Amino acid sequence: MATAPELLGSVPEVIRPMRDGDVPDVVAIERSSYQFPWSEGIFRDCLRVGYTCRVATLGRQVAGYGVMSVGAGEAHILNLCVATAFRCRGVGRRMLALLIERAAAGGMKEAFLEVRPSNTAAIRLYLAHGFEQVGTRRGYYQAVGGREDAAVLRLALRPSRADSST
Ligand SMILES: CC(C)(COP(=O)(O)OP(=O)(O)OC[C@H]1O[C@@H](n2cnc3c(N)ncnc32)[C@H](O)[C@@H]1OP(=O)(O)O)[C@@H](O)C(=O)NCCC(=O)NCCS
Repeated sequence: MATAPELLGSVPEVIRPMRDGDVPDVVAIERSSYQFPWSEGIFRDCLRVGYTCRVATLGRQVAGYGVMSVGAGEAHILNLCVATAFRCRGVGRRMLALLIERAAAGGMKEAFLEVRPSNTAAIRLYLAHGFEQVGTRRGYYQAVGGREDAAVLRLALRPSRADSST
């Protein structure tokens, strides 16, 4: 996915529900961001089963996305990613805040996520939002030449009266 030169330096303002038509752009960002990316089919399945899937956009350009499942009082943040060209402009922070707000507004009591211990940028982001490490999943992630552990992070959610339909 190419980024139009005139968009570089701009800050994505809109976060909206992900649509089927966004998936190719999302997959392009995913592939350029992770060594072991989700497939297109995984994103389509997340949409089909009704997970909370959001994109941050600038004009028609997808700059980042978040995917979360909710149920039984728990939210699970399954993916959070910002295109390289749009990083360090607060997009990840806003996407995470929106997912947390949605989870709280939907009555969830806590949010969980997994992160590679080597992913210092993401860990800083999560800790800044109040997540705390509550465990480790041994060999959770694929890694070059083997497996990598996952740190399991948890955030207690405060009840929210925000509109849960956004
Ligand atoms: C993690 C990620 C989503 C952050 O998105 P972003 O839009 O660049 O982050 P923001 O600009 O909103 O930064 C928010 C906070 O994250 C942390 N952070 C972001 N980038 C960082 C970096 N390169 N180094 C250290 N901390 C960083 C900081 O705490 C930052 O707050 P600060 O600006 O007050 O220091 C982005 O780096 C990314 O998409 N990485 C690849 C995919 C990934 O690893 N996702 C997480 C999977 S668990």
